[in-house]
Amino acid sequence: MLEKLKQLKSQAKEEISKSSNLDILREAEVKYLGRKSELSSVMHSLATLNEEERRRVGPASNSLKKELEEMVLLKRKSFTNTSSIDLTLPGVPIKIGHKHPITQFLEKVEDVFVSMGFEVVDGPEVESDEYNFDLLNIPKDHPARDMWDTYYLTEKQKNRETEEQRNKKTEKLLLRTHTSPVQLRAMGTRKPPVRIIVPGRVFRHEATDAGHEKNFYQCEGFVIDKNVSLANLISTLRIFIKRIFGEKMEIRVRPSYFPFVEPGIEVDMSCLICGGKGCSACKKSGWVEVLGAGMIHRKVLENMAKVGGANPPSPRLRRTGWNPKEYSGFAFGLGIDRFAMLYYGINDIRLFYGGDLRFVEQF
Ligand code: DAH
Repeated sequence: MLEKLKQLKSQAKEEISKSSNLDILREAEVKYLGRKSELSSVMHSLATLNEEERRRVGPASNSLKKELEEMVLLKRKSFTNTSSIDLTLPGVPIKIGHKHPITQFLEKVEDVFVSMGFEVVDGPEVESDEYNFDLLNIPKDHPARDMWDTYYLTEKQKNRETEEQRNKKTEKLLLRTHTSPVQLRAMGTRKPPVRIIVPGRVFRHEATDAGHEKNFYQCEGFVIDKNVSLANLISTLRIFIKRIFGEKMEIRVRPSYFPFVEPGIEVDMSCLICGGKGCSACKKSGWVEVLGAGMIHRKVLENMAKVGGANPPSPRLRRTGWNPKEYSGFAFGLGIDRFAMLYYGINDIRLFYGGDLRFVEQF
């Protein structure tokens, strides 16, 4: 019997001291001190022993029990005791995010234009139809409005706006379809000469596919000064595209129509994804339309000089004014997502907005 206790002792001590967590320790405790443990059956059998044996085995098994219990207690403490934590171990690193690829690309675009003397201006994403359309020479009921179908805000939402907006019962609010209205907003507090870019989010009521999203980014740009020409516009755009994509980049300029410019042009770049062969991102044409541009329409220049609207001219500007007849200007609207797709070699615009970290983490 004593021999057995000795064996149990060394076995139990080893297992308790080796247990590496609370669960394993608990298992050892049950195994050596539990109701069904060998030690417990030894203690139960004491009654069947003769007097002499009982006197030797009894105290020995009691003291083994105490010893093991203490050992378990100490071991358990060592798991919960802070002094057993190694404070010098490196912690679990906190995951740090980074800028979205669209933001990163927009910053590159801003850098190029800022280096050419442009100022960066912001505008509201919820816009009035007056600024989004009327002041840009897109009259109500004109079919050109069909080019920019969007999401209108309901009356109820409008009523939650400011007192001023509530009073303008006729003002319709919408999610802006382009950054062009900021041309008008910016000129409400400035007078020429100006060079301005407006990066920002815009919305369209679109069926989505590899090349279209209902939410995307644009960067508007415009210059107003004396003697600004179409040649200035094309050369500014060429410099911009070469700075971003390299000297070898091909562009092509086509005549086009936008109500707020006259004449209007569209600029395409060769598709970098398929190398000009044709793919789903370029509608199989080998070219990707990346921007619309033109000379600012006379009516829009006039509207700028007298805005008006929800963005009254600053008091100084009201005094001094500016004569739209003395000035000319050009404007352009860059499709940032399309540019970024070409730049990074992405063949589906929806990846930008899918929220899939496996995509975003590659940038
Ligand atoms: N606002 C136009 C659009 O979203 C893009 C555009 C075209 C902007 C011509 C311009 C421009 O400034 O001159 O489709």
